[in-house]
Amino acid sequence: MVLGQQNGDNQVNNRLQANSHMKAIEIIQTEHQNLEAVLFSLEQLLELIDQGKQPDFRAFHGLLTYIDRFLDHYHHPKEHDQLFPLLLKRDPSSSGLINRLERQNHMARTQLGQVFKHLSAYEFLGDAEYQAFRSTLLAYAEIEHQHAVLVDQELITRARQSLTTADWQQVETAFGSHRDPMFTTAWRQEFAALFDRLVTTLPTPIGLGDSWDG
Ligand SMILES: [Fe+2]
Repeated sequence: MVLGQQNGDNQVNNRLQANSHMKAIEIIQTEHQNLEAVLFSLEQLLELIDQGKQPDFRAFHGLLTYIDRFLDHYHHPKEHDQLFPLLLKRDPSSSGLINRLERQNHMARTQLGQVFKHLSAYEFLGDAEYQAFRSTLLAYAEIEHQHAVLVDQELITRARQSLTTADWQQVETAFGSHRDPMFTTAWRQEFAALFDRLVTTLPTPIGLGDSWDG
C-alpha cells in the first residue's frame, strides 16, 4: 500500500468515526430533548389546572403513555444494551457513573408508576388528589431532567474519549438500523399514530384539541 493511499484510508476512517460519533450522540441527545418536550407539555397542563381549568384526563394519559412506551421500546435499550456496556468495557473507571445512571433510570421507572397511580386517584377521587398528582409528576420530571444532563454531559464526554471506531459503528447501527428488532417499522408506525392522537387531544395552544373549560 502506498503512503498516499494509507493516508486516504485514514482520512476515510476518521470521517467514518466522526460521522458515527455524531449520529449516535445526536440520536441520544435528540431523544432526551423529545422527552423533555413531552415533560414540558405535562407541566403546561398542570399550569392550566392551576389557573382553574378543568382537565381532559386523556391528555395526561396520552402523554404519560407516550413516555412509558418511548422509554421502554426506544430509549432505554439504547442506553442499557449498547452505550453503558460498551463504555464500561472501554473505560472501567466509569462504573460509578453507570451505576448512578442505572439507579436513576430505575428510580424514574418507579416514580412514573407513582405518577400513573396518582393520576388515577385524581381522575376518580377528585380535586383533593390534585396536589399529590402534581408533586409526584414534577418530581418525576426532575429525575428525568437530571438523567438527561448526566448522560449528555458526563457519559457522552467519556464515551467520546474511550469508544473505538468499531464501537461507534456498532452503536450507530443499533440506534438507527431498521434491521434491529427493537426499532422495527411497526414500532415507528405505532408511535406516529400515538403522536397524531396526542396532538388532537392536547388543548390549544399546547396541541390542536379544544381548550379546557374553566
Ligand atoms: Fe436517557
